[in-house]
Amino acid sequence: MKANTKRYLVTAALPYANGPVHIGHLAGCYLPADVYVRYLRAIGKDVLFICGSDEHGVPITIKAKKEGITPQQVVDKYDGIMKNAFKDFGIDFSYYGRTSSQVHHETAQTFFKNLYDKGVFEEEVTQQYYDEEAKQFLADRYITGTCPRCGNPNAYGDQCEKCGTALSPTDLINPKSALSGAAPVLRETKNWFLPMGKIQDSPAFQEYIKRFEHWKSNIKGQCASWLNEGLQSRAMTRDLDWGVPVPIDGAEGKVLYVWFDAPIGYISATKEALIARGQKPEARSLAWQDWWQNEETELIHFIGKDNIVFHAIIFPMMLLTHGQYILPSNVPANEFLNLEGDKISTSRNWAVWLHEYLHDFPNKQDELRYVLTSIAPETKDSEFTWKDYQTRVNSELVSIFGNFVNRVLVLCEKYYGGRVTDDGGRMTEDGRVMEVRKHCFEQVAASIVEMEQCLGEVKLRDAQAAFINIARAGNKYLADTEPWKLAKTDEEAVKGILFDALQICGKLAIAAAPFLPHTAAKLTQLLGVRELKWNQLKEEVIIAVGTQLAKPEILYKQVEDEEINVQLARLEAIKKANQAQPSTTSNLNELKPHISYEDFEKLDLRVGKVIAAEKVPKADKLLNLTVDLGFEQRTILSGIAEYYKPEELVGKLVTVVANLAPRKIRGIESQGMLLMAGNDFGKLYSVGPEQDIEPGSVVK
Ligand code: MF3
Ligand code: ZN
Repeated sequence: MKANTKRYLVTAALPYANGPVHIGHLAGCYLPADVYVRYLRAIGKDVLFICGSDEHGVPITIKAKKEGITPQQVVDKYDGIMKNAFKDFGIDFSYYGRTSSQVHHETAQTFFKNLYDKGVFEEEVTQQYYDEEAKQFLADRYITGTCPRCGNPNAYGDQCEKCGTALSPTDLINPKSALSGAAPVLRETKNWFLPMGKIQDSPAFQEYIKRFEHWKSNIKGQCASWLNEGLQSRAMTRDLDWGVPVPIDGAEGKVLYVWFDAPIGYISATKEALIARGQKPEARSLAWQDWWQNEETELIHFIGKDNIVFHAIIFPMMLLTHGQYILPSNVPANEFLNLEGDKISTSRNWAVWLHEYLHDFPNKQDELRYVLTSIAPETKDSEFTWKDYQTRVNSELVSIFGNFVNRVLVLCEKYYGGRVTDDGGRMTEDGRVMEVRKHCFEQVAASIVEMEQCLGEVKLRDAQAAFINIARAGNKYLADTEPWKLAKTDEEAVKGILFDALQICGKLAIAAAPFLPHTAAKLTQLLGVRELKWNQLKEEVIIAVGTQLAKPEILYKQVEDEEINVQLARLEAIKKANQAQPSTTSNLNELKPHISYEDFEKLDLRVGKVIAAEKVPKADKLLNLTVDLGFEQRTILSGIAEYYKPEELVGKLVTVVANLAPRKIRGIESQGMLLMAGNDFGKLYSVGPEQDIEPGSVVK
């Protein structure tokens, strides 16, 4: 960090708006960015935190083709879903934009035009791959083949995700169209290339790359190897119909390369942040140029490792040739997060989706934040497992942090009715207590110093570990002095100890804010204070005498084996489905043979209301439901225990196959069946009427 830094412009990679958000996204980029930004805000820095949906490029059009809808429909659908998922987990962007916006199109076009007018681009007619069946050029992810560098057989036309190399379609060995699978032919077309080799040699770029010296070694390493090999010119335009139109004559039917327009999205979103209503005050006081064109701003890009070349080399080259922009001062890139021994994959549904997590673990955002920061892939790939999730939550959040806070609050409630009565001034003469106390405060102070240092260096895993050490020291203070025993002999000492412990709780509430914002807010409220400031961390008294504490409440609940087993069973089912069906497509389009209307009429479908639900002992998948059909109540066994908790179903209206012959399952007679919607993998959803309608109503 420069000593004279006035402000921080922090960006998190704009995610493609082509699917929901999973834990890999969160751990790789959004969560670390958020923790860092919350810390910067806490210490009083001017920060703008920018993100948004990346709505162009082949990933979007491929998804549209798969779902049989338009690219616009794809981005409209997922932009909202992603934005909400981030919000739910407390990712506190100053502004979340979209690259389909008017402001963005104009900004990207103006930027391109600027470089074009300066004569930066090489205009070249080249042979590009073309799919004769699909009648279209095969740019980027429309083409796959073997990576010439590492031999990965599934490299894309723009990049190999295995070794990170930026590629051109013509670099691929054995290229194949992702649209038809056919071998493509070469056709001539004109495009505009950024002469990266030439820019690499420029003094300004050589000056810029000196910054890499201070960056994380994974980025340094990747960048050094590209730069050593020498960079090739790269097309900044594409023969595609989805994207930002190329704003020059003779480029009709062409769009900007998605990796040209997307990072400019950070600039457009900044502009929009300043004009948007209701935005954070920090965004209001300055012009967008203050953020982007002023050396007093630190520009920091949080990304995943597959984005390194674009953020550390290509985008800076664009900014540099433009001439008016600042260049990134850090690009903290994370490696990948794996899940239960396998690479996270959207197409194989091998992921923990944020919306599903929240459904199964309501209000447990901070638990996930905590675990993902503890295992953040900061220096190498790391792995999420449910067992580890359970262990970390139970043995760290519950047993250390939560337990400490709860003990303190409960004892204060019990002894003093929750009023902070003593400032510890009359601390006992007991030398042992004094010794323990001194040691505790040294530990706390050292942990705070370490935490702050790590936060500043974006070593968030270590920072969070230091944070937990504060609670650990507090716990040890209580364990070593045992105020609940001392209460019988030395009331004054107990007052002092609990006063000290409350101050540590106050420090925890402050220090938790970057990592565990929901907990920090709750703990602040439990401590009976309105607001806590970061600089109070170093103060001796945070919770003053006279403060009335709130009624004790626990911060974290134990994660039970059953909860974990449900998740593991879900993943197991997905694995099985994937093995049975190794391709990425499911058989959802295969219909059963026709039936007559008379066949259909034989079904007696009724609306039912679930009035009771419980697990069937020793059956993992079964729930025993009591369903009201208006005229009678039925016992129905349903194999949905992996997807619904009993209490979630009570009160729900469902559709019942009411004339299905009764059947004994595990000794219980099941008198009907519920209709459920689902695919081969993932959750089942109950199918019920859209409106409240009386039980017994006929479904026809
Ligand atoms: N959409 C890209 C991805 O998900 C990231 C774009 S980052 C930006 O890999 F800089 F281009 F915005
Ligand atoms: Zn490769």
